[in-house]
Amino acid sequence: MIGATVHHAAQTPGAWANLREAPESIAAFIEEVVRLDGPATGNLRRTTRDTELAGVRLPEGSTVSLLWGSANRDEAEFPEPDRFVVDRPNIKAHVGFGLGKHFCLGAALARMETRVAVDALVRATEHATLAVEANTLRHKPSLMIRRLQSLPITLD
Ligand code: HEM
Repeated sequence: MIGATVHHAAQTPGAWANLREAPESIAAFIEEVVRLDGPATGNLRRTTRDTELAGVRLPEGSTVSLLWGSANRDEAEFPEPDRFVVDRPNIKAHVGFGLGKHFCLGAALARMETRVAVDALVRATEHATLAVEANTLRHKPSLMIRRLQSLPITLD
């Protein structure tokens, strides 16, 4: 989550300086990163009884794949879902930390850690630029977790 946030802040023109000048905007920036590029993209569930979801019958014992990364691009909830928009009125309505009784216990800690790390980085430096071509960045191969294998950036 820290890596993804630094990545977005480094590649969005003006973002690094904006975050430094308005540190109160860091929290919303992070939420939009979690919605669009968050580390938790999916998980599995098993149905404990026959049920139905959106008109689809699911017998007891079915394996259901939750895709939070897809739900976070629901255009009914987030207009222009693929755009990075830091002033969405419902900026925290994403499910990047899950939902309901399994909502992430560590969400407050993860949000705080990321805010503190990004705040320290933008204060300590003027610019951040990707040190490699953007199209050479690779994510770890995983259906459940999205994270960069490495993020070479130049801070000055
Ligand atoms: C970037 C950081 C994090 C992300 C994106 C994240 C995401 C999630 C998601 C999506 C779930 C729901 C799992 C499900 O419904 O199957 C979850 C659950 C959980 N998370 Fe996190 N998490 C993060 C950090 C943390 C941290 C720092 C902790 C603990 C210190 C933590 C502890 C937990 C626990 C214990 C659950 C299970 C809650 C339950 O089943 O009742 N998470 N997390």
